[in-house]
Amino acid sequence: MRAGVVGIGSALPEHVVTNKEFEAYLDTTDAWIQRRTGIRERRILNGAVTLTDLAVEACVAALNDAGREAADVDHIIVATFTPDRLMPGLAPRIAKLLGTENAGAIDVNAACAGFLYGLDQAAALIESGRVKLALVVGAEALSRVTDKHDRGTAILFADGAAAVVLASGEIEHGCAPFVLASDGEHGDLLYAGRDERLLRMEGQEVYRHAVERMVEATAEALRRAGMTVDDVDLLVVHQANQRIIESAARRLGVPEEKVFLNVDTIANTSSASIPLALHHAELAGRLAPGDTVALAAFGGGFVWGAGIIKWKERVHASA
Ligand code: UT7
Repeated sequence: MRAGVVGIGSALPEHVVTNKEFEAYLDTTDAWIQRRTGIRERRILNGAVTLTDLAVEACVAALNDAGREAADVDHIIVATFTPDRLMPGLAPRIAKLLGTENAGAIDVNAACAGFLYGLDQAAALIESGRVKLALVVGAEALSRVTDKHDRGTAILFADGAAAVVLASGEIEHGCAPFVLASDGEHGDLLYAGRDERLLRMEGQEVYRHAVERMVEATAEALRRAGMTVDDVDLLVVHQANQRIIESAARRLGVPEEKVFLNVDTIANTSSASIPLALHHAELAGRLAPGDTVALAAFGGGFVWGAGIIKWKERVHASA
């Protein structure tokens, strides 16, 4: 039994913040931000819309895309470290609002690698036969934990949500096997403290580790999948910084035209970043059923990972 992605959906806040707006109160410029990060604008939650609202919108869209009913969902995994409440997590409320019946519902926190960890867990549950249909969601409101007066981070982080539907079936490839790893030695280079509740980052150090670890993990994931870089149709890397993504792609030997970027308008949405990129890639006509997609993410912890998935392989549902 394998786990295959059969649907995807996403949701962004309406409010757009351009680079120019930072020039008013930070020692920065639109030109610097674009040159060093690739970011032009980002979406930020404001007003009455909650992160739960965004995540539910993304899940409804993903279920519609998959042609599945909420009542059929067995399990919901939400990757986030910025839930609406400290406790409970986002997942039980999302389950309630969707109208799933008796679905397991849990949040996972693996920082910017959270979606990959969640996808791996959901795939493992499906492969073991315990779950038949799962929603894996990445949802983040990083604006809640961003220091607006720190020019090294204020310009980077943003909000958004996206979800995939994962179904069990007799398929050739599916989602496995992923490569996941961590190194707690570097926990002080990117973190949000319990009292301060703001993201603090040694940008250059994180940058260096991010490129190295994601390249290693992607190469290993390809090896485990019995593939080479030539088999990859699209590389979707956590959208933290255009230079990180391009540097990782160069080292892996993935040509520019096979690398997806939406960091220019989305910025860094942590665990929402990869599913948002997947959805935007599909909407842009860059991703078609049967394509081989290499995913890689890196975040605070450090935690990181990579995985090779087949995009919307035809799933013959198991009995
Ligand atoms: O999501 C988890 C993973 N996160 C990441 O992967 C992010 C990793 N890091 C980065 O993306 C980059 O390191 C940054 C975008 C954060 C910074 O870019 P950089 O090219 O590494 O710059 P830097 O940290 O080496 O700083 C160079 C200079 C410094 O000034 P001095 O010391 O040379 O005078 C910074 O203070 O740029 C300065 N700087 C800025 N200048 C204008 C830092 N932020 C800004 C800014 N505007 N917003």
